[in-house]
Amino acid sequence: MQRENWLYGGLMNNIDILKNWIDESDNIVFFGGAGVSTESGIPDFRSVDGLYKQKYKYPPETIVSHTFLKQKPGEFFEFYKEKMVAPAINSKPNMAHEKLAQWEKEGKLKAVITQNIDGLHQAAGSENVLELHGTVHKNYCDRCYKQYKVSDVINADGIPKCECGGTIRPDVVLYEEGLDSDVMSKAINYISNADVLIIGGTSLVVYPAAGLIRYYRGNKLVLVNLSETSQDGFADLVIHEKIGEVFSRL
Ligand code: OAD
Repeated sequence: MQRENWLYGGLMNNIDILKNWIDESDNIVFFGGAGVSTESGIPDFRSVDGLYKQKYKYPPETIVSHTFLKQKPGEFFEFYKEKMVAPAINSKPNMAHEKLAQWEKEGKLKAVITQNIDGLHQAAGSENVLELHGTVHKNYCDRCYKQYKVSDVINADGIPKCECGGTIRPDVVLYEEGLDSDVMSKAINYISNADVLIIGGTSLVVYPAAGLIRYYRGNKLVLVNLSETSQDGFADLVIHEKIGEVFSRL
């Protein structure tokens, strides 16, 4: 898509505008979701082939809830290990993850804020990653708080158990649970002070994460998402393409 851009004169392609903004900035912040990892082979939640569109015994939002973990841990871990841990640990970063890590190394990008729990940003080399919904890579005993690796969870037969008898649970934010306030306030701080804010691969429907967009005060808000979002109207630049493909052209 072409659009008039007075800053650079004449008609410019949206990707070229984004390229200019990135070239000129040393204060980029990225905020992303499941769509960042679909090109790595991990399904998102709400697309037609997403995790929440498949048929299970219970609605997936019910399965990944605090109450369900407490009341039906066997079924929780069956779903969690197969649908959330296995795809995460068997996938590799794609061009979107790689570019973000590169921009951080070049001193252009300040932080990656993600709703994803797959750890692929760190696998690509990003260091300052704020994981709003936690990560499959961190796990702890719900009784004695001993820390465990993801391999302790995936390799356990059924419900992963601590030596103290407690259940080893993932350090991820389940439905009915609150976000870490320290991570949230850091995210707000980065977004409020960002020059360029790129939001990618998220439907922006899950709060409070989706509300972070409101803290941005600049005039270079970029949305890179395959489908339309309810926030498209707030963006200065909207690109409805695959984020890995877009980033590989930057
Ligand atoms: P969603 O599945 O809701 O949205 C993913 C978005 O990414 C959709 O709008 C897709 O169109 C888009 N998309 C898919 N592949 C893409 C690609 N290659 N390039 C660009 N866009 C692409 O996922 P999230 O917004 O991340 O929370 O969902 C938010 C939260 O809902 C998740 O963190 C999870 C879930 O419940 C918890 O588990 C707490």
